[in-house]
Amino acid sequence: MRPEHPIVLITGASSGFGEAMARLLASQGCHLALGARRVERVQALADELGKAHGVKVFAGAVDTRHTASVDTFVTEAAAALGGLHVLVANAGLASGTFKMWETPDEDLEAMMRTNVEGVVKTVRAGLPHLRKAGWGHVFFIGSTAGHQPYEGGSVYCASKFGVKAMAQSLRLELNGEQIRVTSVDPGMAETEFSNVRLKDEDKAKAVYQGVKPLTAFDVAECVRWCLMLPDHVNIDEILVKCVDQASVHKLHRRA
Ligand SMILES: NC(=O)c1ccc[n+]([C@@H]2O[C@H](COP(=O)([O-])OP(=O)(O)OC[C@H]3O[C@@H](n4cnc5c(N)ncnc54)[C@H](OP(=O)(O)O)[C@@H]3O)[C@@H](O)[C@H]2O)c1
Repeated sequence: MRPEHPIVLITGASSGFGEAMARLLASQGCHLALGARRVERVQALADELGKAHGVKVFAGAVDTRHTASVDTFVTEAAAALGGLHVLVANAGLASGTFKMWETPDEDLEAMMRTNVEGVVKTVRAGLPHLRKAGWGHVFFIGSTAGHQPYEGGSVYCASKFGVKAMAQSLRLELNGEQIRVTSVDPGMAETEFSNVRLKDEDKAKAVYQGVKPLTAFDVAECVRWCLMLPDHVNIDEILVKCVDQASVHKLHRRA
């Protein structure tokens, strides 16, 4: 049975979706393990949420591209919190808008190592703790980019198609165990995502001009809903977009 106070590990909790999930789940009584490379941000968030909601919050530095870093983060988190029930493999990024043949190695490696390898490393390290608890839920954060490719997004789309494949494989592999597997796949949402991708604040702002995009809390709410459903219900996939975004290529912008 779902514990009254599930222990939830979130990678990429220093901003955007990860931070919003931490805020929402803490308000629901979940204990949290928050990780990112900017450890001062997750530490500040952990202090704030622990005080505000009376939940246990562990904060740690993690770079999901590196096995040792992920293993240490997960082990320390589980020891500090007394186990883990939920993994949210959220850390990820798009880097640039290159045509495939123009993509520099640095950007190629950043996306594939974080979005694909980092997710494997997180699930690989965390799963034994879910099995030990006898109840678990693994969340992948995919994207509409894992459903519909677009120009300038070949590597990012490949990585998110990869996330979708991993979620589907893991669900098959875990069949027979009380561990749910959900992929939450958002369309455009205003976070630090475009700042990271475009490395230019004005260009990042322009992405959302005239549009009412998803917020990080909209995405966090999808995770909360899936998590709180009865144990026998597994939401495989949520494809969630703002009303203004009918598809990757059809966006309504107000003047
Ligand atoms: N925003 C969108 O439009 C959108 C749409 C669909 C899917 N997504 C996906 O949603 C996820 C979260 O993105 P977001 O929109 O919330 O963007 P964001 O605000 O830039 O947050 C990304 C988070 O990932 C962390 N991160 C990046 N590389 C990392 C690494 N190597 N190790 C550990 N943490 C790392 C960042 O923390 P540090 O930099 O401190 O490490 C940050 O906390 C990503 O997987 C993204 O692909 C975003």
